[in-house]
Amino acid sequence: MKLTQPQQTISNSDARFKVAACGRRFGKSWLAMNEMAKFARFPDQRILAVAPTYKQCKNIWWNDLRGMLLDLNWVKKINETDLTITLVNSSTITLRSSENYDALRGGKYNFLVMDEFADMNPDAWFQVLRPTLSDMKGHALFIGSPKGRNHFYDMWINADHNDDWEAFQYTTLEGGNVDSDEIESARLDLSDRDFEQEYMSQFVSYSGVIFYAFDDKLNRQKYNWDQFNDRTPIHCAIDFNVSPITASICVKTNTGLHIIDEIEIYGSNTMELVQEINRRYGTARQRYAYPDATGSRTNTNSMGTSDHIILQNNGFKLVTGKTNPNVNESISAVNSLLLNGAGERNLQIDPKCVKNPRMHVEVCV
Ligand SMILES: Nc1ncnc2c1ncn2[C@@H]1O[C@H](COP(=O)(O)OP(=O)(O)OP(=O)(O)O)[C@@H](O)[C@H]1O
Ligand SMILES: [Mg+2]
Repeated sequence: MKLTQPQQTISNSDARFKVAACGRRFGKSWLAMNEMAKFARFPDQRILAVAPTYKQCKNIWWNDLRGMLLDLNWVKKINETDLTITLVNSSTITLRSSENYDALRGGKYNFLVMDEFADMNPDAWFQVLRPTLSDMKGHALFIGSPKGRNHFYDMWINADHNDDWEAFQYTTLEGGNVDSDEIESARLDLSDRDFEQEYMSQFVSYSGVIFYAFDDKLNRQKYNWDQFNDRTPIHCAIDFNVSPITASICVKTNTGLHIIDEIEIYGSNTMELVQEINRRYGTARQRYAYPDATGSRTNTNSMGTSDHIILQNNGFKLVTGKTNPNVNESISAVNSLLLNGAGERNLQIDPKCVKNPRMHVEVCV
């Protein structure tokens, strides 16, 4: 397997723990596979590769890995149900998802790779997998695209300050698998923030800038689903202006608002968004929609019907002004919900919502 120059730079580093933040399509999963093979060249090595979901293990790696190792004539045994390949030199490569990370306790490994680490529960590493490297002083590669300033960001920052650790950062363009025309076209399609994150591999965060009152701990609270029943109204803030279109699902609580869910639909398809909200929350309850004003214009993706009409035809009650509210007013309204003068935090976001609070502006004004 020939690596690109930046992949080679990461591979060549002799740090025990490597943290690589790279743009989409950089070649992260390919590099991960190469590193598995690199460690597996030696006899009796135990290698574990972890992806966020089982489906990703199968889709990202299984077929390519199996094919590559068969081509090399390294394979002794393939266990498809266990996603484990045993090599003729007695090394093993096992693929696992981090969904049920507790089940990974008890192993011991020479090399661990965690692909799309930003999408995983950090406890998978801190509580479960870190100790599995202790017996053999195993190495680890954490690789992924940034997802805001979450645990992956912390690890990437810390890697610069710890012995044995090294941090890397590469854009999609540097990966060499996507040409510059395509990247420019993506720049036009995405919001600035999404482009910076997905293609430029930046750990972007607005929470410290516009939403100065947002506190990652104090405004994040798990929603208590005991309070939720078939009749609880939901309030859906919808932003048609971004790709993908996004909806924040909120409920009113006795102190304010709780954002309990978020939905993204690629390709700006309002009908699909509506169907997804109905699939998750049913059609029996009141569903209020707070679309931004641009949605009243005809949406060419919806066969000439405006997004507002699609929402109404599907049972949503529209709450909308004729024009978008003044952005500064909206932002200060959200900030005061996040933290008011009396020190109360009346807007809570469930931790399962990973998007930036910026997208929740409309519903809160
Ligand atoms: N060194 C390489 N040589 C040849 N092809 C490569 C190389 N690295 C990556 N590729 C190809 O580039 C494409 C993207 O690679 P890969 O899936 O590893 O990227 P990724 O960063 O994991 O992408 P995503 O962000 O979608 O997860 C794949 O088709 C892969 O086969
Ligand atoms: Mg990948």
